[in-house]
Amino acid sequence: MGALGSAAVLLPLERLATAAAPARMAASNLPRPFTIPFTLPPVARPSRWDPDSDTDHYAMDMVQVNQSILPGYTTAIWAYQDHYGNLNPTIDVAQGRQVRVQQCNQLPNHPQLGYAPSTSVHLHGSASLPQYDGYAGDVTSPGNWKDYYYPDFQDARTLWYHDHGAHHTASNVFMGLAAMYRIFDPLEQSLPIPHGRYDVPLIVRDAMFDTSGQLLYNDHDHSGVYGDVILVNGKPWPVMKVERRKYRFRILNASVSRSYRWQLDSGQPLTVIGTDGGLCPAPVPVNQFRHGVAERYEVIIDFARYPIGRRVVLKNLSNKNNIDFANTNKVMAFDVVAEATSQEGNSIPSELNPGNDTMNLTEAMSTQSRRFDLVRTHGRWTINGKTWQDIIDSDFRWVAANPKPNAIEVWEFRNLSGGWNHPLHVHLIDFKILDRNGKPPLPHERGPKDVAYIGENESVRVIAKFKNRVGRYMIHCHNLVHEDHDMMTQFEVGEDGDDPIYGEPTHPLPATPV
Ligand code: C2O
Ligand code: CU
Repeated sequence: MGALGSAAVLLPLERLATAAAPARMAASNLPRPFTIPFTLPPVARPSRWDPDSDTDHYAMDMVQVNQSILPGYTTAIWAYQDHYGNLNPTIDVAQGRQVRVQQCNQLPNHPQLGYAPSTSVHLHGSASLPQYDGYAGDVTSPGNWKDYYYPDFQDARTLWYHDHGAHHTASNVFMGLAAMYRIFDPLEQSLPIPHGRYDVPLIVRDAMFDTSGQLLYNDHDHSGVYGDVILVNGKPWPVMKVERRKYRFRILNASVSRSYRWQLDSGQPLTVIGTDGGLCPAPVPVNQFRHGVAERYEVIIDFARYPIGRRVVLKNLSNKNNIDFANTNKVMAFDVVAEATSQEGNSIPSELNPGNDTMNLTEAMSTQSRRFDLVRTHGRWTINGKTWQDIIDSDFRWVAANPKPNAIEVWEFRNLSGGWNHPLHVHLIDFKILDRNGKPPLPHERGPKDVAYIGENESVRVIAKFKNRVGRYMIHCHNLVHEDHDMMTQFEVGEDGDDPIYGEPTHPLPATPV
């Protein structure tokens, strides 16, 4: 009697608890760190190669596939897939070649949240035309496709393409819609820094899984999504075999909300050689550094100083206002297994890209300054009190700033709160950080940037030259939960550029072959 009675009372409550927050995978079922081999992301293969044309063509489908991420489980993820089956492949391009990507949305409804995913593909770091920039209102619904063209005239850099669909960006990216893109140029190729197999992408994100191994999305009341598993190129806490020489790592923080603070357990500094917009003027060795969502840092680690057999661990010291778990303080390990098989690109020159236009901007060149306050009001995230819904309500016309083509301006971003930080991204431009709370920029951020970490109670001033790319572009917090609810606004360079929404239409599937 007693047992039956209590079961009758408990069952509905248990169901309620399950509906509110599905249980996460027990920590004991997660892999032990540094037991799974490191892998590189695949490289995308063009669907058509024409040496006489200046355009590389790619065809991609956004698909849901089952992947083995945690040993013993399969997980449904979303990915960009090229026609050779490569999932979330890196697109590599030589400066000066245009890239066309046909993007077909073949996605089902979101497995946990149930919505039909309307997508918009943004190439983050590219000065794309407005109609190819992944504007949040320019969505492709399931069963449709759209062509994107990328100019690739910019300096060598690490970019990434990811979803930007209005109000669902966080859960779309959490499901996996994110991958790397690299532009190479003659200057970067001529430097004796690591290239080829010693130039290694590290796409880092956190994830959480439910008891059946499916991705578990919880945005903690629109504040942030934090997982207990750290994935590098899709593998949990992998271990990479390295030679006794220098490696260059392109670290992309593709998390929804989590920021990191990297440090090697050996005490060796990381030498920062590149930031979001490409090579720094000069290399900067740092003992540890903070890395917000969407930022890219290229670092060199020299394994020549370790004997064969030594393991070096890349740790995460974390930052204020992350939700941390037992093993989120570690990221991956490097096992030194062999002598160097090549000495090519095995140095760090004292100058890298001293002629970078953005880094040579000075405040005296600026003709306008503007301020943007990042504030949470009535539970909504705003920029100067505006939300993206306000932009939608203006039929996408309202703009927060209207710089002239080629204007040089100083923009200040202020976070007057101690309760959260904002990785603030400005589309189209590269900027130089002038100062942070009135002090010089941090050592690791002295290169061209397109995301600035606006930490708790921090104000950051940046300077940029607005390109001769007339049109409307977004400014937003890259904590994607903040972006979706609704910390995003826009600026317009010049007047009456191409329309970001109607400039290049979407088409129903099937797609015409590229
Ligand atoms: Cu990486 Cu507007 O985004
Ligand atoms: Cu934010």
